Amino acid sequence: MPSSAFPRVIAIDGPAASGKSTVARLVAARLGGYYISTGEMYRALAWELLRRGVDPAADPAGVAALLPQLKLHCELRDGRPELVLNGERVPAEAVRAPEIAAAASVAAAQPAVRAWLLERQRDTARLGLVVLEGRDIGTVVFPDTPHKFFITARPETRAQRRLAQAGETAPGATVASVAAEIVERDRRDATRAIAPLRPAADAVIIETDTLTAEEVAAQICAQV
Ligand code: CDP
Repeated sequence: MPSSAFPRVIAIDGPAASGKSTVARLVAARLGGYYISTGEMYRALAWELLRRGVDPAADPAGVAALLPQLKLHCELRDGRPELVLNGERVPAEAVRAPEIAAAASVAAAQPAVRAWLLERQRDTARLGLVVLEGRDIGTVVFPDTPHKFFITARPETRAQRRLAQAGETAPGATVASVAAEIVERDRRDATRAIAPLRPAADAVIIETDTLTAEEVAAQICAQV
């Protein structure tokens, strides 16, 4: 059977707060696959770095030196993949904090970090049908999958979505301040030398300003 006869990997990329995770969760639920957030892997690493007092901006060598001591993998719990770092469950809520997002984006520009996570991301395909969301799934992690999507929206729309998610913005944050933060993170993600944020040449681009997450998920499922 040709490998494309049954989807194994669905790649959903896009900028910060574009709704990737909500959409990817819906797609995974509809198609009976596993939802994997690769951003959560970068966030898990950033969480560990900050806990250990390693500043990824000031000390990239310290980050690279720490990687061999870390074991990160996805474990199924109640049928859902959960991230485990050195035997400890990564707290999905805590890693959503804005300072972790910023540190994740800094660490994500470092070649050693990307090489280390690439293997762990590819390894998730052993679970079965996986719906991965991130920045470089279609371009680097699984460039051979025919199911590639890039979802985006204007910064203000994305800032509104992010503000609606409790615990993901600083107290007193406004649409303007959150939009400025995500534009800065997108700039860093899109201009880095390796695996920059960009759609794969054969990705289906979906502008989501006027679409609900259900509508976007329905479009993706219909194409798959
Ligand atoms: O949820 P949100 O879109 O705000 O961010 P995320 O998907 O959790 O990703 C956090 C950060 O990890 C991003 O800003 C990127 O710098 C980095 N990342 C990456 O470089 N490559 C990926 N495949 C996924 C995330």
